[in-house]
Amino acid sequence: MNEKMTVLVTGANKGLGYETARRLAELGWTVVTGARDPERGKDAVARLRERRADAHLVHLDLNDAVSIAAAAREVTQRFGRLDVLVNNAGIGGGQLPSQQDLAAMRSLFETNVYGTIAVTQAFLPLLERSPAARIVNVSTTLASLSLASDPTHRITQWNELFGYTVSKAAINSFTVRLAHELRPKRIKVNSACPGYVATDFNQGRGVRTVEQGAEIIVRLATLPDDGPTAGFFDERGRVEW
Ligand SMILES: NC(=O)c1ccc[n+]([C@@H]2O[C@H](COP(=O)([O-])OP(=O)(O)OC[C@H]3O[C@@H](n4cnc5c(N)ncnc54)[C@H](OP(=O)(O)O)[C@@H]3O)[C@@H](O)[C@H]2O)c1
Repeated sequence: MNEKMTVLVTGANKGLGYETARRLAELGWTVVTGARDPERGKDAVARLRERRADAHLVHLDLNDAVSIAAAAREVTQRFGRLDVLVNNAGIGGGQLPSQQDLAAMRSLFETNVYGTIAVTQAFLPLLERSPAARIVNVSTTLASLSLASDPTHRITQWNELFGYTVSKAAINSFTVRLAHELRPKRIKVNSACPGYVATDFNQGRGVRTVEQGAEIIVRLATLPDDGPTAGFFDERGRVEW
């Protein structure tokens, strides 16, 4: 990876997305900062540029197909390349499985699943031009069926986040299937679990810092050619699906 790399981070105006953008900019990468709100996006780019980052704003709302298509055109025209896509943007929420509100669940799927898939599909032609593209889907260990099958595992305490959990399980499935499809094109696709990180996502209740949480996202974004694909990782290693 000698050439200057270009990364798009969705939902990069705050939280784990911002921290991931900051860290990749520190490596000298061109960082395309995806944000659904132009003002919040401008503010984030200004903060990144204060740190001398080569950061640029692109309007990108996962719930808006027009904005996704326009963002893909804009990145193609302005940068002509994309080496790494970090699918970070997402929303939380949910209830117990027996009580899950279906409208709320559809909305979780709209953003976390269909939005993420739509962004990936829109940027894939650009990623295919890169000699060593990477896609990182930000997921959660809550989505692990293996871990949740153990009644003593701590993640079973989070049963009330059913809608969110299933949306990330769907994304994990997307990771695996897409990774196999893209293997011949040398594009690596992995899911990252940042742990329980203090952000607006959980009203700051998380126990880890964004610096700690972004570590595995950055690692998967910067994988060497002999790195894994079709995997699910936290910073300690593989997570069981
Ligand atoms: N925090 C944790 O403990 C934790 C644990 C595991 C996984 N994760 C995952 O990590 C990712 C980032 O979470 P975070 O903790 O950094 O949360 P956050 O601080 O709430 O940031 C979420 C980001 O996603 C953006 N976003 C939400 N809906 C969007 C949409 N429709 N289109 C475009 N952007 C949208 C938000 O934009 P606005 O600012 O405009 O709302 C914001 O930039 C999520 O995928 C989350 O599921 C978080």
